[in-house]
Amino acid sequence: MSKLAVIGGTGLSGLGDQNRNNRQVIETPFGLPSGALVETIINGKNIVFLPRHGEKHTIAPHRINYRANIWALQALGVTHIISVAAVGGITPDTMPGYLVCPDQIIDYTYGREQSFFSDDFSAAKHIDFTYPYNQELREKIMTASKKRGLDLIDRGVYGTTQGPRLESGAEIIKMAKDGCTIVGMTGMPEAALARELNIHYACCALVVNRAAGLSDSLISMSEVEKIVKVGMSDVKLILRDIIEEY
Ligand code: HPA
Repeated sequence: MSKLAVIGGTGLSGLGDQNRNNRQVIETPFGLPSGALVETIINGKNIVFLPRHGEKHTIAPHRINYRANIWALQALGVTHIISVAAVGGITPDTMPGYLVCPDQIIDYTYGREQSFFSDDFSAAKHIDFTYPYNQELREKIMTASKKRGLDLIDRGVYGTTQGPRLESGAEIIKMAKDGCTIVGMTGMPEAALARELNIHYACCALVVNRAAGLSDSLISMSEVEKIVKVGMSDVKLILRDIIEEY
């Protein structure tokens, strides 16, 4: 049986009716996840929600216990994860307010625990990561956004930086040359860890700013907040539709 989870990023702190939620604190061999896992029933479907940065958004991207998060979701029987992320746009089409469903990743992070098998490795544990995202789940995101008439770019390369600072202008020029179309701080190792546990994983990214050096002004957090507010309500619509069909 399949079970869906949503990992919420900046601006998405829950899904359903807070009163009908069942919160579970799950301890894993890798420590505690970012917060309690919240099981919600939406349209008769049992959905798990995890706030990636913690319930009060106090965990920085490089401090997130990605291993505990993914492990805990699997412990609850989760088979599919939709990861929601706020990102910067690098290519001219990735303007603030657009949604992107990336199909590739480049990892620029360092010092994060990359594997469940670090202390217990064997050749068999090298996962195939040619296509980091699950195509079936990506299609669900694309279909739902089309149905709602939302602007979604149906492919992209998610460059994951270490954060928590934003990038320098030169870093963004380098990333654009590498082929990155969007930039965020939490895409990895989350996607790879899900693959290690055979959990189907896809990302719905909301562009909340032009990446560093690509607009006439500096990145303004108050502008970002405005885009997040509107954009995440679109993301919630998509998620509800996906859950309904699930
Ligand atoms: N860079 C990295 N992460 C981000 C950005 C950005 O411009 N915007 C939102 N998350």
